[in-house]
Amino acid sequence: MLLVLSLFAFFFILLPLIFHLKYPEIRWNWEKINLKTIQFPKSFIWGTATASHQVEGNCINNWSQFEGGNKTTGEPNIKDSQVSGNACEHWDRYPKDIELIKNIGVRYYRFSLEWSKIEPQKGMYNQDAINHYSDLINKLISKGVTPVITLHHFTHPIWFENIGAFEKEDNIQHLLLFSEKVFNEYSDRVKYWCTINEPAVVATQGYFTGMFPPGKKNIKLTCIVLKNLLEAHVQIYKKIKSMKNGDAAQVGIVKNINHFDPWRRYSVLDWLLTLFLNYVYNTSSIRFLKTGKFKILIPGFLWISHKNMNACTANDFFGLNYYSHNHIKFNIFNKDFFELKFHSKDTMTDMPYTIYAEGIYRAIQEVSKLSIPIIITENGVADKDDKIRAEYIQKYLYATMKSIEDGYNVIGYFYWSLLDNFEWAFGYDMKFGLYSVDFKNQIRKLREGSETFVQIIKKNESKI
Ligand code: GAL
Repeated sequence: MLLVLSLFAFFFILLPLIFHLKYPEIRWNWEKINLKTIQFPKSFIWGTATASHQVEGNCINNWSQFEGGNKTTGEPNIKDSQVSGNACEHWDRYPKDIELIKNIGVRYYRFSLEWSKIEPQKGMYNQDAINHYSDLINKLISKGVTPVITLHHFTHPIWFENIGAFEKEDNIQHLLLFSEKVFNEYSDRVKYWCTINEPAVVATQGYFTGMFPPGKKNIKLTCIVLKNLLEAHVQIYKKIKSMKNGDAAQVGIVKNINHFDPWRRYSVLDWLLTLFLNYVYNTSSIRFLKTGKFKILIPGFLWISHKNMNACTANDFFGLNYYSHNHIKFNIFNKDFFELKFHSKDTMTDMPYTIYAEGIYRAIQEVSKLSIPIIITENGVADKDDKIRAEYIQKYLYATMKSIEDGYNVIGYFYWSLLDNFEWAFGYDMKFGLYSVDFKNQIRKLREGSETFVQIIKKNESKI
């Protein structure tokens, strides 16, 4: 009896208490915080970001294929069966869009190269596409905007998808060859290179929730794809750093940190679930980049282990994407054994998450373990009514500023996104843009809420 009581006390009282103290969900009293005090070092990098598939238009890749719907069931994969189609026509309109970038005062632009346009068939490169990005780079530089390239931002050619994409470690060589090719083309003018955008998102959305291509639901593949994407990053880093201009290049992975917090801080089940999800989604990648060791163990079910000591020296900076966190409640009746919960006092964005600016501070703390400079490569809000954009920007920038004051090495911030665009499984419904886009006539307009961003940059730059 005593043993049963002790075990009960250990599992249901002591463990949750230990976790509660060890993993606090930071909350600040925003009423007492003066958001007008936001101030950044004068060397701080201010930028904005897009990704090829979301803005360019006319992409033929794994995503455009996925947009056609589920081949077997005929179910749509994208909200209301939307397709990316012409998107923002950024492929043709980029000279004018560069003016828009200039007008908001940022001096850096992060964009991705559309691998499927540059290498539509395996080993066959399209010179027009290569020239297109070359011209984009030249025009950016001539306007005083520094280009920041992402090599893989969720999309790849259909031929690559057909051979199993990142399900097979062998396939990494194809992305490596592509990276080598484009680094050769552009590294005389481009210093900043992001390798892979959000490996954990590609793996979990593509292979666990099935919301991204290839729409599979297989936990083993989720872990394998994550491992292969991380490995691809390391190989790309080592390759391009050994090439001409490699020394001068700044190369880093881009990782989204999304903390899972327990809905009930007293529940050991909520805790165990959140600790597991945090490990798979966040910690396993950071640990790999710190120690060279990747391990995921699901007791009695799955064991993925991988080692590459080169990983410990495979980043000149860490690209941190941060939006929000998730509250998780264990639910035995749910197919994934959990549900997402939201506090009514928290402000919802149009995406299924709330404003949680303290989280960017937590994320910065976490990735600081790697002891390399951090660039916030994405942060922004979907807000079609433009009611909370200004608040969101101010709070997340305040939290970023506080992290710098507290000694964390954050050197830049890119707002997601320059334009409203194709928000993956949500289609065009999510309005992340500093500029709204009317997709009937492609007219762009700076949102009122975005003025806050413009003013903060201006204020900080005028101090120079
Ligand atoms: C990120 C992704 C971006 C954009 C953003 C907003 O995960 O890298 O492409 O979609 O989320 O949800």
